[in-house]
Amino acid sequence: MFRSASPIKNKADFAASLLAWHKRHGRHDLPWQGTRDAYRIWVAEIMLQQTQVAAVIPYYRRFLERFPDIATLADAPQDEVLRLWSGLGYYSRARNLQRAAQLVAEHHGGVFPRALDEIEALPGIGRSTAAAIAAFAHGTRAAILDGNVKRVLARHFAVAGFPGEKRVEMRLWQIAEEQLPLRAIARYTQAMMDLGATLCTRARPACSDCPIAQSCQALALGRVRDFPAPRPAKVVPTRATHMLLLIRGGEVLLEKRPPSGIWGGLWSLPELADGARARAHCRTNYGCSIAAPQVLAPLAHGFTHFKLIIQPLLCRVEKLTPGAREAGQMWLSLEEAHGAAIPVPVRKLLERLLSQSCRWSRGRGRSTAAGA
Ligand code: ADE
Repeated sequence: MFRSASPIKNKADFAASLLAWHKRHGRHDLPWQGTRDAYRIWVAEIMLQQTQVAAVIPYYRRFLERFPDIATLADAPQDEVLRLWSGLGYYSRARNLQRAAQLVAEHHGGVFPRALDEIEALPGIGRSTAAAIAAFAHGTRAAILDGNVKRVLARHFAVAGFPGEKRVEMRLWQIAEEQLPLRAIARYTQAMMDLGATLCTRARPACSDCPIAQSCQALALGRVRDFPAPRPAKVVPTRATHMLLLIRGGEVLLEKRPPSGIWGGLWSLPELADGARARAHCRTNYGCSIAAPQVLAPLAHGFTHFKLIIQPLLCRVEKLTPGAREAGQMWLSLEEAHGAAIPVPVRKLLERLLSQSCRWSRGRGRSTAAGA
């Protein structure tokens, strides 16, 4: 049985209910709260773009300890920035963060800009992130519309369509702006984020605890789960590659990727298209003679525009030509390689090898069975 949603009398009802709820049930002691330092807020918002709060906290603390201000971040070697980001994934966020710090140092005298358009002009900062930074740092009256907020608004106002579609997104921005209260913007912004993250979740919405359930149109229609509409199914092309796990004395070879493009600037495993050429490839490019490669279980990795099927080949080095080491290549123990700035699927492959290595070492009483 459906009930009708009580229409929101005015936007103040919506904001007031959220603010009252947030006072008692919102999150108040996250490490990036209680500061007005735009740099600290900015770093948090970037880390939180595609990563959950609990996962971000330790990275955030370590990052700020090493890069306590814009100047330190701007001047740091990129490798170190990527290393401290390693594990959070989506490394373009880290590269953009540092590039933006350099731009702030060059064009804003090292002071994070205050104006929304100047914030949004920095790399890696879109409209919603710019608004969140300005709201938290200066109380600027600007609307946010991250994934959680899109879900809250799409449900509350029964906005049909996939929010990734321009038309739907524009409607949601309009609603987000209409609902903005005149005051308490920082608390309201945090309340919207917290509601989306803790109650109005995608899979298990807790409508009975929701402070704005009374006026929720999706709830009144009995269709909370229909909003927001899912992304229309899209067939993405598949690409295939071979990745070489070149193992020598317990160490694995990593190669630096070019600065731009997929996984730009990260360390990765050597790749080649034709696995049958692995031995010749190793000899020519890495000065290694290898035993016959061992074909391991393939791994699929999804990008937005294509799916990558990785065929890993375990290659045990029998002989390394002295002096064959090239710039942009390094041999690391499996544990060190796992802690380096590497793409997620490479980390997964190393994890497989590390867990096998543990099993082998338990079986044979050796410490690094992966070591050929
Ligand atoms: N997600 C994005 N920004 C956030 C913030 N400031 N606090 C909690 N979750 C968030």
